[in-house]
Amino acid sequence: MESISGPRVAVVIVAAGSGTRLGAGRPKAFVPLQGRTLLEHSLHAVRGMRHTADVIVVAPAERQEEAVELAEHASRRPVTVVAGGDTRQRSVAEGLAAVDPRADIVLVHDAARALAPASLFDAVVDAVVARGYGVIPGLPVSDTVKRIGEDGAVHDTVDRSALSAVQTPQGFPREQLLTAYALAESDETDDAGLVAAAGFRVDVVPGDSHAFKVTTPWDLRRAEELLSGTAVPRIGTGSDTHAFDPSAELWLAGLHWPGERGLAGHSDGDAVAHAIVDALLSAAGLGDIGGVFGTGDPRFQGAHGDVFLTEARRRVEEAGFRIGNVAVQVIGNRPKLAPRRKEAQERLSAILGAPVSLGATTTDGLGFTGRGEGVTAQATALLLG
Ligand code: CTP
Ligand code: MG
Repeated sequence: MESISGPRVAVVIVAAGSGTRLGAGRPKAFVPLQGRTLLEHSLHAVRGMRHTADVIVVAPAERQEEAVELAEHASRRPVTVVAGGDTRQRSVAEGLAAVDPRADIVLVHDAARALAPASLFDAVVDAVVARGYGVIPGLPVSDTVKRIGEDGAVHDTVDRSALSAVQTPQGFPREQLLTAYALAESDETDDAGLVAAAGFRVDVVPGDSHAFKVTTPWDLRRAEELLSGTAVPRIGTGSDTHAFDPSAELWLAGLHWPGERGLAGHSDGDAVAHAIVDALLSAAGLGDIGGVFGTGDPRFQGAHGDVFLTEARRRVEEAGFRIGNVAVQVIGNRPKLAPRRKEAQERLSAILGAPVSLGATTTDGLGFTGRGEGVTAQATALLLG
């Protein structure tokens, strides 16, 4: 089934449930977890796969547009979004109907298993390719399991060595999965149930503890804690230089400086604000100020630093980051920053919603800043994932 370029893989992410047990007041896949929805976390895992995959998201009918936006942003490419049904099985069936018939392998994944790593998706694909039939990840059951009566009375102990707690993504040759869905008589809580009922072999392969299903508020809390422990902070750097322009007003560090020589620039020449914007964008991997704002864009002509800072903050937060802190150093003879340092720090911190510290230095008369021709600012930003 594998061509030279590898198998053609489609991943159906089911995200159309209501999340009753989580009780977050919105469909579970749209609940935020460390700045990204559960759905986006799942999409990020798929994007990180070694195998490239077509992605089909099954979302609640009333959230189609939002799902398209989230999915294309998280996947950085077109994603098919379809409306779900009133059970998980019906939602999967809707997703399967949108799978390209050229796909060799279909993986079905619960958006609710938001922390399932990319490596698990790849391992499932590899195992389906190697075996030619369905493969599902599962973990051994570590608790002692009892069969009980309706009154709570224990009947017996189930032999746990014969049990596996199964997860998603579950992977199948496309044709076997389609056959199973075409023959489906019962409503099953997973896809392997239907595929096995249709007479196909399905194997369990080692699952991953991170692929647990976010079902209750406790699970969401566990996911938050796992992420906060593993998120690697991201550092970014930026600098900006502007020449003095005696005919301009001085705007620096988000403040107006009456009586000081101004700085030349397409916008207000606020080198401090621009250096911070570059540091933020670089930390988030979003490019730089010229690429994002366009140096010739008339909307930014004469714009003050807060416009750029506010937009940069919005973009890094939209990309799933939180600003940890920012440090900036101004290199130049004038203006003397010390008297207004506190005011500038407070202004910049308020705009970014994070501590900004501002320092200044001179260059002992050397270079263009030493000769009083202009000002440079250098900024470092730390983003938390
Ligand atoms: N699902 C779906 N369509 C449904 C029901 C469930 O796409 N009609 C999806 C969910 O979005 C979830 C996965 O199937 O990603 C597993 O279901 P579950 O954990 O039960 O999620 P919910 O049904 O949303 O939650 P609850 O049962 O607590 O309401
Ligand atoms: Mg459910």
